[in-house]
Amino acid sequence: MILAKLTNPMSYQHLKISNQQAQKVVAELYNIHGKASQLPGEIDFNFKIENENGDTYILKISRPGESYNYLDLQQKILHFLEKSDGDFIAPRAIKDKSGKLISEFIDNHDQKRKVRLLSYIDGRIWVNVNPHSNDLKYSLGNHCGLITSVLQNFNHPAAQSKSEWDIAQSLWTKEHLHLFNSEEKEILVYFQNKFESVQNSFSSLRKAIVHNDANNLNIIVNSSLEKPKVKAIIDFGDAIYTQIINDLAIVCAYAIMSQEDPLEASLPVIKGYHASFSLQEEELEHLYSAIAMRLVVTITKSALNKLIEPDNSYLLISEKPAWQVLKKWRQIDAGFALLSFRKACSYLAHPNENKFSAWAKNQKVNINDLFPTCNSNSVYHIDLSVSSKWIGHHKDYENLDLFQFKIDQLKKQHPNKIVAGGYLEPRSVYTSSAYDKKGNYGRESRTIHLGIDFWFPALTPVHALFDGEVVTAVNDSGDKEYGGLLILKHRQKGIDFFTLYGHNTVDSVLQYKLGDKIKKAEKLTELGNYPENGNWAPHLHFQVMLSMLDYKIDYPGVAYFNQIDVWKSICPDPNLLFKSKELSPIKGSSNKEIIDFRNQHLGKSLSLQYKEPIKMVRGAGAYLIDQNGRKYLDTVNNVAHVGHEHESVVKAGQEQMALINTNSRYLHENINDLTQELLKTLPDEISVLHFVNSGSEANELALRMVKAVTGKKDIIASEVGYHGNTNECIEISSYKFDGTGGNGTPEHTHIFPLPDSFRGKYTGEKTGEKYANEVKKLIDAIHNKNRGVGAFIVEPIISCGGQIELPKGFLKKSYEYVRNAGGLCISDEIQVGCGRLGKTFWGFELHDVIPDIVTIGKPLGNGHPLAAVACTQEVANKFANGMEYFNTFGGNPVSCAIGTEVLRTVERENLQQQALEVGEYLKNELKKVAKDFPVIGDVRGQGLFLGIELVDIIKNPLARQAEYLINRMKDFGILMSVDGPDNNVIKIKPPMVFNKTNGEELIYYLKKVIQEDSFFKYKL
Ligand SMILES: Cc1ncc(COP(=O)(O)O)c(C=O)c1O
Repeated sequence: MILAKLTNPMSYQHLKISNQQAQKVVAELYNIHGKASQLPGEIDFNFKIENENGDTYILKISRPGESYNYLDLQQKILHFLEKSDGDFIAPRAIKDKSGKLISEFIDNHDQKRKVRLLSYIDGRIWVNVNPHSNDLKYSLGNHCGLITSVLQNFNHPAAQSKSEWDIAQSLWTKEHLHLFNSEEKEILVYFQNKFESVQNSFSSLRKAIVHNDANNLNIIVNSSLEKPKVKAIIDFGDAIYTQIINDLAIVCAYAIMSQEDPLEASLPVIKGYHASFSLQEEELEHLYSAIAMRLVVTITKSALNKLIEPDNSYLLISEKPAWQVLKKWRQIDAGFALLSFRKACSYLAHPNENKFSAWAKNQKVNINDLFPTCNSNSVYHIDLSVSSKWIGHHKDYENLDLFQFKIDQLKKQHPNKIVAGGYLEPRSVYTSSAYDKKGNYGRESRTIHLGIDFWFPALTPVHALFDGEVVTAVNDSGDKEYGGLLILKHRQKGIDFFTLYGHNTVDSVLQYKLGDKIKKAEKLTELGNYPENGNWAPHLHFQVMLSMLDYKIDYPGVAYFNQIDVWKSICPDPNLLFKSKELSPIKGSSNKEIIDFRNQHLGKSLSLQYKEPIKMVRGAGAYLIDQNGRKYLDTVNNVAHVGHEHESVVKAGQEQMALINTNSRYLHENINDLTQELLKTLPDEISVLHFVNSGSEANELALRMVKAVTGKKDIIASEVGYHGNTNECIEISSYKFDGTGGNGTPEHTHIFPLPDSFRGKYTGEKTGEKYANEVKKLIDAIHNKNRGVGAFIVEPIISCGGQIELPKGFLKKSYEYVRNAGGLCISDEIQVGCGRLGKTFWGFELHDVIPDIVTIGKPLGNGHPLAAVACTQEVANKFANGMEYFNTFGGNPVSCAIGTEVLRTVERENLQQQALEVGEYLKNELKKVAKDFPVIGDVRGQGLFLGIELVDIIKNPLARQAEYLINRMKDFGILMSVDGPDNNVIKIKPPMVFNKTNGEELIYYLKKVIQEDSFFKYKL
């Protein structure tokens, strides 16, 4: 808007229009009788008018003295858009009773006020939409681009005016720097200078009349929560004839607010804009600065407006987020931003990408030109990718002596080859936190290797491939940095490019000064050893770059996966020079190929997690890592009990496997060791163990024992209980036989209602007793059929039932009834055992009972197929009726070594206590979230075995929200699962190494997702 308006001395109070006045105006001028409600507006006073028929309008009352031409421009634009063929919605201008598009009235202070009436466009305002998905951002850009393309043929003299909001005129902000502190000033001056320095080229960019203000209050989004799209852009009050790129800069400036990574957030907007209005390469060169200058204007305007109209809160709305984003924008490399914008518009990210490839194609460069002391050129491609078996355990590759030893072995096996590789290889070896950041979709790690590594011994001389000039010669010290780093600049056939040599001795690099000239074939550096080379086994990191961007003393050698397309254009494959077949990147199967194969050749009822399944190739502690190196925080896997691929457990298995693995008919200590470790945790009464290979097999064996001991086959089990996949186990698993494909309750199975005290048959007082009474009723029914009770089986927290904690007294009373009827009591600890519940090692201990049989599974082998049945001497004696119990794999030395190490690790690392503490922390935090978001009806469980139940106000289950939540959490890099009879319970049962920091991350993203619009999509 024009500066004069803002310095209007008249007080804001004198200008304000009440709702009643607005109603009167619209009735008198337009003969429309409706209710007025105030809407935000920077200059105009805006009202929504709704008449009795439900028709809605926007009434816009200008400030006194407003220029007719200026309003006429807006009305003409709307008229032009209405008449265009453009497939989009825009507000319609409505004429007053006398046929005028701009009307007038006299306000209470005798001032003439101009009035316009527009059609109201229904929908949600951008600022109120959450989240702003990439698709939505694309549609925003696309819609704005469409308006720009239609307005190409529009002209109006008033559009040539002065405006403080025109980015082209934004250097007026320089006069107001005194309003800011020194840190703020530095940022503002940086962008003002940057913008000023390119005025020549900027002023020659294409111009047109553009909307120029698609800020987050002017964007209307349709009502679809599933696939929201931009429906209209309103308020053409800032339309102006200016550089077209300014329009996109403004759209971006607002769309990137409140985003962790504003550059990433801007790209779908730019892509969308370019799809409907083709942007030119030279326009993109100014986009980074133009976006910044819009923010500079917003911030400066806010600072001024605070002085002029302290009451007008609208004027201050974007100040805080504008500062936040501008500070982040300052941290972004302008050159990298430009290349990202180019890529988003389908231009080559780096303009010289193809030229360099073409030039490199004709070069004859050998690897031993780099390493003349090596007389071979043939390569052995070393796989250091996330899924590399050669790397092995992450603790192994952190051991540099071991790593070097393995490299030496490889060289011995391939004496005439150069061990090398790594371009675009996704690696998980970069464990330093310097490689991580919080992106728009959760934690992101730099994983994509941009150079080729050549594994040569320390002090190997490195020589120059081309004439060049030193642009960087530094000691990039620190763990997992470059150590001695040299970068040379080259110019060949008019193409500038750079070569980077990392991990040299510091001395061999520091001999150079910037600007030193290097001749082809001259010796450059010598390879360093650890720790001076950044703490790696000796190797050369060799990288080619077409631009140094803004880097001077460092340069990324590893990039974030989501920026790979841009980086690979800036850093071409060094193998374009060497042309070695072996150095080409190794291609694994695509996820689609894996899925197609599974669908054709694996069991047809196997399921896959998530709409877009993930390929996991590595585990580490509480994380699973996919093939691109993305780390997912795992809150699902209670099997990886002491952490994914726990070093000592892996070692225990590997070491034993190297010696012997055979059945338990031979003597071996391992089976005794594991037995002893387990007995330490069990009550004295339970003192005999049988080892099997799965939870199902454990329960199957328990059921055989029941028959042998009692001679009965009637089993009492819980509604929605699950006990395994074998015939007998399915027969007692209501979760299966009452579910899809099931045949209902078998004759000898007796199901008591899920003892859920939140939403079950009984809630409130004495629920334990009431549910136990249901067990009693089943016993009576069995007796009525003249049969006897074999056993009662239940989990201490019913997992598939939705993390149902057994109500107080239920287990004790039920055991009493069952035992009185001659039955055995089985505690299925397959999910909850081994310390997970925090307070106790086994679930039954929470209830002050001792079962006859305890079945143990999942956690015992930390992923290795190992399970056990523990029982009393009496049960064991009766089961041993002469028939041999033989199990080919059960109790083998490898499995037992693993199981023993798991139990020792739980103790050594105090993991039961950790489960208690982190579990309590999580439960308390979740309860706090539940207070703010009543959609969380119940938070329950013990230790690290928790459930969050999602319900509406009358406790109806919210399964869709649960599904939405876990899918969104996955987007943010957190794996969660859903269960319960109504699929509305989120389960939390992570590896026990899951710590408080992991818990904080989980809560942070959970709160974020719960606040998203779609979460409430199916609210009743
Ligand atoms: C409570 C319970 N029991 C038994 C089993 C069967 O164990 P497995 O899958 O190892 O055969 C499961 C598996 O999920 C379970 O949750």
